[in-house]
Amino acid sequence: MPAKVIIGLQWGDEGKGKISYLLSRNADCVVRFQGGANAGHTVVLPDRKLKFNMLPAGSAAGAKPCIASGVVLDPAEVIEEVDLLRSIGIEPELMISGAANVVLKLHKRLDGMIEELRGGKAVGTTRRGIGPTYSDKALRTGIRVEDLLDKKALREKLEILERVHGIKVEELDELVKVGRLIAKYVGDVEIYLNDLLDSGAEVIFEGAQGTLLDIDHGTYPYVTSSNTIAGAACTGCGVGPTRIDEVIGVMKAYSTRVGAGVFPTELHGELADRIREIGGEYGTTTGRPRRVGWLDIPLLRYAVKISNVSWIAMTKLDVLTGLKKLKICKEYVVDDEVVKIVHPSVKKLEKVKPNYVEVDGWDIDQGDWRKLAERGWESFPPEAKNYVELVERLLGVPVKLVSVGPEAGMEVWR
Ligand code: GDP
Ligand code: IMO
Ligand code: MG
Repeated sequence: MPAKVIIGLQWGDEGKGKISYLLSRNADCVVRFQGGANAGHTVVLPDRKLKFNMLPAGSAAGAKPCIASGVVLDPAEVIEEVDLLRSIGIEPELMISGAANVVLKLHKRLDGMIEELRGGKAVGTTRRGIGPTYSDKALRTGIRVEDLLDKKALREKLEILERVHGIKVEELDELVKVGRLIAKYVGDVEIYLNDLLDSGAEVIFEGAQGTLLDIDHGTYPYVTSSNTIAGAACTGCGVGPTRIDEVIGVMKAYSTRVGAGVFPTELHGELADRIREIGGEYGTTTGRPRRVGWLDIPLLRYAVKISNVSWIAMTKLDVLTGLKKLKICKEYVVDDEVVKIVHPSVKKLEKVKPNYVEVDGWDIDQGDWRKLAERGWESFPPEAKNYVELVERLLGVPVKLVSVGPEAGMEVWR
């Protein structure tokens, strides 16, 4: 099918990078449509680990990378990641929308300052300047990629920005320089993508962050500053909703969250440490330890519903190996009432009590997963299959892909 949107169903870091890489192998183009260099998408090749903050991770599979206008662009990262692709023998035919807003040094500074001012209520942002850049975009004081190519216009816009923020912005020459470096990539991504879809080409829309970090549908204010749900692919790229053929929801076999905010199924102590270590749960972008918890079905039900997810890719099932019992939060109890699905408003989530179902774990050698992935789903331990099938039943959406290791090949299609 030609247009597939990949999104995270939890708080980010679900393994979208791997899934995008897998699906982009058959695609003509892969596009980032929201967020910025706060994203950290990992692709593990047999001999190398690649980390993408700005370019779609699917570009490592050779699909043409695009960055659409819904993204906030960090030009220095773009240049670095083009070099990263060159280092694996790919000369990317990158296209960046001239309408994407640019993250300035000023925005990163403001990001840090606002976090400090929030004190104990800090969001725990990546400090990549994401919120302040989207704020300037909404205020209509933003700098667009196309502005970097016109020094006179850029100077005038920076002057407005200085007056609005009351801060000196001494970035003109630097921005003009970086503008020259990326000028050859700038194009009308939105027109290009629509024409490509008209021609029957396959396009992957690679979402960043996760549904629970969506500015409208997440745990506000502990969220990022963009929409992260499937619909954002349409607004972020100028592609009509009827174009989208499939929405692929990526979820981990457990929950993680980096940064502050409510987390009803959070685990602490030895079990959390164990999952964190085995799962390598440290932020790709910031290196921060990720908070860890059991799966949260009421929140996943919400995520699946609002993006009308076609099928699920479940990652990191291997990480749960060796635990005697596993828990899944199947519903909440709120004021003595059972709740099956919930809007992730902090006010609501602060009152919920998770109701868990306990299932048997499985124990095999971690090293056996590669062999099992090659043999297929039927060869998986029955308890592991039961875990996936239970999630499928609870969510009412097929889990078509189960990933059991970071590399391509360490997954099975069901
Ligand atoms: P993204 O932001 O959603 O792309 O996810 P990240 O790349 O930030 O984090 C996912 C991490 O898990 C990366 O280090 C991946 O290499 C790794 N990973 C992906 N799938 C699997 C899997 O099935 N098993 C294991 N053990 N690691 C995985
Ligand atoms: P990927 O695409 C996990 C989190 C931050 C913080 C909140 C706001 O790799 O899944 P921001 O810098 O966006 O203003 O931070 O959002 N956050 C992520 N958490 N994965 C991400 O991206 C994230 N991008 C932002 O930790 O809690
Ligand atoms: Mg990540």
